[in-house]
Amino acid sequence: MCGIVGYVGGERCVEVLMEGLKNLEYRGYDSAGLAVASPGGIETAREVGPLNNLAGTLKGRDRDFFSVRAGVGHTRWATHGRPSEANAHPHKGGGAGGPEVAVVHNGIIENHGELRRELRGRGIEFNSETDTEVIAHLLAERVASGESLKEALVGALKRLQGSFAVAAMSAAEPETIVAARNQSPLVVGLGEGENFLASAVQALLGYTRRFLFVENGEVVEITGSSVGLSTLEGEPVQRETFEVDWGAEAVELGGYEDFMLKEIHEQPAALGATLAGRLMDDGCADLSDLDLNLSDVRRVVVVACGTAYHAGLLGKQAIERLARVPVEVTVASEYRYADPVGDEDTLVVAISQSGETTDTLAAVGAARGFGGRVLAVTNTQGSLITREADAVLLTKAGPEVGVAATKTFVTQVAAMHLLALALAEARGARPVEELREVGRALRLAPEKVEEAIGLAEERAGEAAEVFEEARCSLFLGRGAAFPVALEGALKLKEISYLPSEGYPAGEMKHGPIALVDGRCPMVAVLGEGVLREKTLSNVEETVARGARVISVAREDDAVAAAIAEVVLPVPKAPEVLSPFVAAVPLQLLAYRVAKARGLNVDKPRNLAKSVTVE
Ligand code: M6R
Repeated sequence: MCGIVGYVGGERCVEVLMEGLKNLEYRGYDSAGLAVASPGGIETAREVGPLNNLAGTLKGRDRDFFSVRAGVGHTRWATHGRPSEANAHPHKGGGAGGPEVAVVHNGIIENHGELRRELRGRGIEFNSETDTEVIAHLLAERVASGESLKEALVGALKRLQGSFAVAAMSAAEPETIVAARNQSPLVVGLGEGENFLASAVQALLGYTRRFLFVENGEVVEITGSSVGLSTLEGEPVQRETFEVDWGAEAVELGGYEDFMLKEIHEQPAALGATLAGRLMDDGCADLSDLDLNLSDVRRVVVVACGTAYHAGLLGKQAIERLARVPVEVTVASEYRYADPVGDEDTLVVAISQSGETTDTLAAVGAARGFGGRVLAVTNTQGSLITREADAVLLTKAGPEVGVAATKTFVTQVAAMHLLALALAEARGARPVEELREVGRALRLAPEKVEEAIGLAEERAGEAAEVFEEARCSLFLGRGAAFPVALEGALKLKEISYLPSEGYPAGEMKHGPIALVDGRCPMVAVLGEGVLREKTLSNVEETVARGARVISVAREDDAVAAAIAEVVLPVPKAPEVLSPFVAAVPLQLLAYRVAKARGLNVDKPRNLAKSVTVE
């Protein structure tokens, strides 16, 4: 969480910093701030709340503020200290006995209490409750003693414990920014006569597509004309430039009211791009470029969080059904401390849209302990997880800005199906023609999801009306429809703040049926196959007790229509596509409920898209 951005070069500094922060707001929006440097000192502007508040404040600044050539910016997801102007970054140090410095930070400094006491003992006064402010004072002391900004950062880093990406500037070197990272991400954007820094490439797509990734234990010094990367010991580091194929339009609304709605509509294209080159016309899944021997995989462990975990549950079903390999799916925050059991024949699949979720990265570390091979399924080129894994299966959803995962969910599910098919074929688990048939059906995902969007758009508003007086809701499903129900409940609760739970429909009688009344709508995901009938009977039992039911069912399903107040129709599709098409109406339902409540669907309260703290 938290986004940092830096710029050195020309007079468009403030514009670049604000644009960068806009594209990083998904990482946190409790407050935002800028620091710009001139030989006279460092000037900051900070505001509580979303970036627009900071933009408003900047209107009052004089022209000098906008003519600087270097600055850093920050968008905050509060960890230490409530959202307030005093706790907003950048934090400053120095000034009295030496040049001013300013610092922006993403992560947590675990030993900040001890450092704070030590600095106070030397007469330093603190202006915030944040862990970050200790870095500013440590730096300022060193700069005041004559160290360069880079030397000061290296020295200060040796005192810090925890995770961080930190960028700093000093009035003594007003056209230089130094930065370093440990665990939290940091990229350098390369320009002509200007250079950039950010937490993620999305911040800078309007300015460059050429990036350098900074690794743990490295420090980078950037000016308008140079980028110097070295180890903390001072050894120069040569790093290859990484070119991303995302365009700036991917992080613009493009006429949609919200990113979530735009991203729901981008699902057909995202699926097409994810399957392209990997799923052949004849239905053969080709993962040969991953350079991962799948034939000796005896067990699969999936680690992930949130929506990615739900994609993992669907992946388990596909892998077990097609490849007949046992799969365990575990929430990464549990797995990392579970002292997990496995061996070299265990394939650990870490699913993470951002590729930087701390718990998922730590779960990968835990799997390394027993020698497991790691496959990362991620949407983010060059992300931390791509550097930790043995192989990477990229989903090609493009940047997802809305905090609620939509297009990245369906592409993760598609990626897990590709893995299931490739694993099944490598192990000879099923007749090849049977697998090809599933593969050919999977190729229809983009067009069926397109149809699903069209159908659901017409009815989602009507279904949302059922939630007007709701105090909670339950999402029910069985088989493949169960993870979809979990995902539907997560979507609804995270953007509408209505308590919502996903349940296997057969479990209702074991407790949750007690919740049933007219103010706890049931969303029944009927799915396909034998379990459809079973789910219907479970739903009938709730109707008999006064439940208001919304069913997600095929458009021609008369039985579903008879028991439900509203049917969210899905198109007729091959069984393998049922979770894909059923996910869509649930996304749109959550969207409509949240909009009807007047909520910001892209930035739900308390959340950030990338969860980079534990
Ligand atoms: O970036 P990741 O896929 O690792 O993120 C995991 C979860 O934080 C994420 O899926 C979260 O649950 C979604 N934003 C919910 O919509």
